[in-house]
Order: sequence, then C-alpha cells, then structure tokens
Amino acid sequence: MKSLVFINACVRQTDSRTLRIAEPIVEALSARYQITRYNLPDMDIDPLNPYLYAGRSRGEIPAWAVEAASSLAKADRILIAAPFWDMSFPAVLKCFFEQTSLFDITFTDNGKNCVGLCQAPKVLYITTRGMDIATGSEWEQATPYIRAIGRLWNLGPLTTIDARNMDYSTEDEIEGKIARAVAEGTELAKTW
Ligand SMILES: Cc1cc2nc3c(=O)[nH]c(=O)nc-3n(C[C@H](O)[C@H](O)[C@H](O)COP(=O)(O)O)c2cc1C
Repeated sequence: MKSLVFINACVRQTDSRTLRIAEPIVEALSARYQITRYNLPDMDIDPLNPYLYAGRSRGEIPAWAVEAASSLAKADRILIAAPFWDMSFPAVLKCFFEQTSLFDITFTDNGKNCVGLCQAPKVLYITTRGMDIATGSEWEQATPYIRAIGRLWNLGPLTTIDARNMDYSTEDEIEGKIARAVAEGTELAKTW
C-alpha cells in the first residue's frame, strides 16, 4: 500500500472546523493509503532555538524529527490541515517544517543549488479562513509558503480545499461550507 503523511496543525483540536473537514477526507484516503499522522498540537514542537541549532551543527537532531523527515521523504502523498492564522498558518506548522527540513533527508545540494529528496507527486492542503479571502490572494500567505517548501523538497503540485468567511457566516452557512468542502475532498480522494 502507498503511504500518506497527514500533518494536522489544527490547534483548536476537536473544536476545529478545519479538522472536521480533514478527518473524513483522511478516512476516505485511508482506503488507498497507509496513513502516518502527526498531531502537531500534541507534540510540543520548539522552533529551531540556539540550543537545537548548536546540536544540529554537531549532527545531533531530535530522533522524532529525523523519523518525521524520513516519513515525509518517502511519502507518496502529503496532506496538511491547518486553519488560517494571521494571514498564514499556525506557528506550530512552521516549527514542524523547521525541524523536519533536514539536509540529506528532505533535501540535499549539488554544490550549486539545493535539490529536493522527497518523492510525493501531490500535496493537499485543507484550510478554513475567518475572512472572505481566496486562495492565492495577496492576503493569503499560507499556500505560497507550502508551495515554496514543496519546491525545496521536490514535492509535486499543491491542491487546496478551503472554506471561507467562516467568522462572518451563520451557523447554517458554516455547516454548509464544511459539508461542501468535505464533499469536494472525498470526491477528490477517489482519484488523488
Ligand atoms: C489565533 C487566530 C488567528 C486568526 N487569524 C486570522 C487571519 O489572519 N485571517 C482570517 O481570515 N482569519 C483568522 N482567524 C480566524 C480563523 O481563520 C477561522 O476562525 C478558522 O475557521 C479557524 O479554523 P479552526 O476552526 O480550524 O480553528 C484567526 C483565528 C485565530 C484563533
């Protein structure tokens, strides 16, 4: 069975609308992929601070980060669920990328440039936004970053499923948006 890494950056956990959209899509994908799941809000992930940076220069890298980076490098698909925070995604996701963007695991170099070592040809990003901001708008700085780290790591094209204006919609409207995003994702999951 092919493998899928699910990166869950939904800090509000069971209250998260983003996670409510992601869970049934991951469930649908689990019919075709072996899922490795990282629940970032439970992981107590530090940014790369002076202590960790000094360790890294001595080749000392936290075992969990090596393991996660290796899973990412080998994965056939990567799915990221993260709410829209401060015009991007929660800092815990950036900390996860900092810790797992590892030389000779997710990327290397050829003496002139960096070369990605990952192999997933497709990445799916699921998000909900409080304001009515479209994917790709200049107000939206999550997808440009995820695309850029994908370039560094040699990941394939990014597909985004979003639900918007969530903080300015009625409860019924919010439920409708969640249902539409789940339907879009589960349909995609049949062939993705
Ligand atoms: C800390 C924080 C920062 C947020 N920043 C933004 C923002 O910059 N722009 C926006 O449109 N919505 C923002 N929101 C609203 C969320 O994007 C929105 O409520 C989303 O549906 C939350 O997803 P969740 O239910 O998965 O946590 C923010 C919410 C929180 C809690």
